[in-house]
Amino acid sequence: MKSNFLISISTHSNDKLGELSFFESNKDIPFDFKRIYYIYNVPKETKRGYHAHKKLKQVLWCPYGSIEVLLDDGNEKKIYILDSPEKALLVLEGYWREMKWQKKDSVLCVAASDFYDENDYIRDYDEFIGYSKRGDWNNENKF
Ligand code: TYD
Repeated sequence: MKSNFLISISTHSNDKLGELSFFESNKDIPFDFKRIYYIYNVPKETKRGYHAHKKLKQVLWCPYGSIEVLLDDGNEKKIYILDSPEKALLVLEGYWREMKWQKKDSVLCVAASDFYDENDYIRDYDEFIGYSKRGDWNNENKF
């Protein structure tokens, strides 16, 4: 698989006060964030996603619960488990993704490199495979 990575999020721990985790754009994550969104109240075993992005770069993390993320670059599929507030997954452009809620009340947070644009989505798997075969992705920007 090309270049997706699990990132360890820096965390401040205090025995009495708890934990504080943080990351910064263009330092810990190789792009600027323009949009944050989060997905919650999702029943256990639900799968979401089923799309790829043409240009959008994202970082995914699960501050509470456990979420399985399948990434597919058109050749290879790989599964990542987000089961700790200290783990984040970098998902560059050009990856088909499917996310499965493994525990009740799990929350998926996403920081994205651009504003919402439905034209950036590929929601048809055959179309995605066509794109990946032509190598249309602009993913020069390796982390
Ligand atoms: P979508 O990205 O398809 O979510 P998932 O792949 O997890 O099912 O988004 C679901 C709907 O929400 C879709 O109709 C578009 C809308 N949406 C926005 O309007 N703005 C956003 O920033 C996002 C992420 C989604």
